[in-house]
Parts: sequence; structure tokens; C-alpha cells
Amino acid sequence: MANPLNGKHIALGVTGSIAAYKAADLASKLTQEGCTVNAVLTEAACKLVSPLTFQNVSGQKAYTEADLWGGMGHVVHINLAHTVDLMLIAPASANTIAKLAHGIADNLLCVTALATTSPIVIAPAMDGGMYANLATQANIQALKERGMHIIGPAEGHLASGLQGPGRMEDNEKIIQYLRFLLSRKMPLAGKKIVVTAGGTQEPIDPVRVITNLSSGKQGYALAQAALDLGADVTLISAPTQLTIPLGVKLIHVTQAEQMYHAVMDEIKDAQALIMAAAVADFTPAQPSMEKIKKDAPLSAIKLKPTVDILKDVSAFKNEKKLDLRVIGFAAESQKLKENAIKKMQEKSMDMIAANNITQPQAGFGVDTNQVLLIFSDGATEQLPLMNKMEVAEQIMQHLVPWLTEGAE
Ligand code: CTP
Repeated sequence: MANPLNGKHIALGVTGSIAAYKAADLASKLTQEGCTVNAVLTEAACKLVSPLTFQNVSGQKAYTEADLWGGMGHVVHINLAHTVDLMLIAPASANTIAKLAHGIADNLLCVTALATTSPIVIAPAMDGGMYANLATQANIQALKERGMHIIGPAEGHLASGLQGPGRMEDNEKIIQYLRFLLSRKMPLAGKKIVVTAGGTQEPIDPVRVITNLSSGKQGYALAQAALDLGADVTLISAPTQLTIPLGVKLIHVTQAEQMYHAVMDEIKDAQALIMAAAVADFTPAQPSMEKIKKDAPLSAIKLKPTVDILKDVSAFKNEKKLDLRVIGFAAESQKLKENAIKKMQEKSMDMIAANNITQPQAGFGVDTNQVLLIFSDGATEQLPLMNKMEVAEQIMQHLVPWLTEGAE
């Protein structure tokens, strides 16, 4: 279990767009993610970048037209087309898009694209005028209708000096897209998992809030790990500075009250809830509608308790007889195990992940965590210090059998 890109074989088609130079970085990054990348360059691409560049960054053969017409030409495209998990054409020029739309197979790249049964992802890159041209638009539409995936183009500065849509999508976004696409057949395909993340913000007045130090990193890592396993993920997030994992259904909330309603709504058809959010336990009883001025001194803020989301989830689950697995978190500064077990039992969780926030590598904001997993049957598992993505994968490893046992 891990990143679904790991171990995948990708044919990277590179065409004659100036963005071809970015494709070398793409090949390098995909290789670092564990992919085997065979580049296939058109003649025009070879005028802009060297096949040797791709061979060097990927450690794999980069194919050119010479391979199509060489002694083994008849098997090259068939082998590639039938062995890859995915074909990515990035950058895809207007010319190659037009050829693909019409089934033209006059070079190795197009022959491979025509022969493969693997998913094809196309990242167009061209001048704004060429992209806007109705012929290109119709060709892209035709490819979409045939099930090909089009990513981008992005807007911005174009090589022609103009601004607008036409730039190849960012490599990071392309990689995230492939990661999502390749995860869809993983074991949790068709299962809905709701993940909460971040620290809620409770308003004192329109500019001030009571919040906590949660960064949201553990929750976002859990959302990514659940996506990687094929799940349909709803991420209910309090404000964070983090990048939204591509493929989640995102619900932005601010206050505990909003998070409560979002959770209660989303769990109705979910198979698991992971409450990684740091939900405020108290909220100002009467937040001021106007900014509180310092010449009208405030000596105290009256607080009222918020609803305990997991307690209500537990009651709702029993009432509706929902088959919902619940995982919670306990961030403790003392009596870690004792406090965590108490919370797990009071809130009817299947598992609680407890961490000691006084440890510098396991507190808020850092990229690492050290958690003790405690299960409802009393079993425990102490995980070593690891990064939050690894912690998320370990937690998901326990969830997979719970959600798939008995399934065909
Ligand atoms: N939680 C919740 N609703 C709240 C507060 C917490 O659902 N209003 C969830 C958290 O997301 C977490 C678990 O309950 O998964 C434990 O949260 P924590 O704040 O550690 O526990 P509390 O019960 O609030 O206890 P305390 O703050 O006193 O330690």
C-alpha cells in the first residue's frame, strides 16, 4: 500500500510544443514517484529536447521515429501500447491532438496512442489562438467524448508573448491527476470515507477568533491516503494553509457548529469517519457583531460548550443502525493511554490514534507524528516516529479490512 504511482509503467508522449522542456522534469518526477517512464518523442519534439535527456532522468529507453522504422519497429508500439498502465501526452500540440481526434497514425506516438487500451491523459500546450480555434476545440471535445482525460491548459504567459489559456498544466497538478486516476481501482473503490481536519475557529467579533494550533496536516494526509486506496473522500476542513488533495469533495467550514452539520450530513451514506479535526470545546456565547474597540474594555468572554460531534455521531449511528467505522484522535499532554481509552469508549470509536503533544516531533504543526493506536477490543499498536503520510497509511491499513471483509 502506498502511492498508486509506485510501480506503474507510463508511456510519456512528448510532442513539438515548446513546453517539451518541462516534460523532462515531469519524467524525472514520475520516476522519483516509482514509475517506469518510457518517453516517446515525435520528430518535432526531438528538435526542442533530446531523447537522451529523458533516458538520463528516467533510466529507461526513450523512443523516437527511428524506433518505428528500425528492425523491431513492428513490435515497439504494440509492446508499449499493451504493457503501459497509462499513456500521458504532455505537452500535446494542436497538431497531435488533431491527429488523435481523427485516428491518424503517422508516427510512433500516434500509433501507440491508437493501439493502447490503457487510459490516455492529454495535457494540451499551444499558442492561445491555436487553442481557441474551433478546430482544436472540436478535436479536444471529440477526445473527451471518447474517454480521454484532458488536463489543462493553464492560463498565463505564453511563448508567443500573449497571456491566456494555452500553457501546459503544472507538472505537480499533472502528477496529482495521474495519482488520482491510477488509484480508482484500489481496494476501497466505491467506499465513502469522511475525514475532518484542521482547527475550528470560534468568533469573538468579526476580526477575532478563538482557535488552536492544529495545522490540519494529519487530516489532509489521511484524506490523501484514503484517496490513494480508491475511496471517495469527503474532506471537511477548518481553515488551513494546505493544498487540497486532488479528487476530494471539499467542504470548507470555520466553526465547530458548521463542522457538526457537515459531518452529520455526510456520514449518512459513508462507510467510515475519521475525526482528525481539533474541534473547539467552547465557543463565545455571544460573539459581537461589531469589532470590539479597545476604548470599550472587555474584561471577560463568556463561553458556552460546543456540541461533541463524535458523541452525536455515536448516538445517530445507533439510532439509524449505520454500518459506520469511526476513528478518532486524542492529543494529550498527560496520561496518554488512559485518557485516550476513556475518549474512545465515551465516543464509541473503533480506533483512537493518541499522540503526546509534549514531544517535539509529535505535536501540532510538524510533519512527523508518533501515535499509539488503540482499538475497541483493547489491543494497542505503538507506531514509531514517522511522517504524517506514513501514519495515515498505517491507520488506513487497519481500515481496509474493516471496509472490505465480506465484500466480493
Ligand atoms: N471531537 C469532536 N467534537 C468535539 C471535540 C472533539 O468530535 N466538540 C473529536 C475530535 O475530533 C477527536 C476526539 O473527539 O477525534 C477527541 O478530541 P479531544 O479534543 O482530544 O477530546 P475532548 O473529548 O474534547 O476532550 P479534552 O479536550 O477535554 O481532552
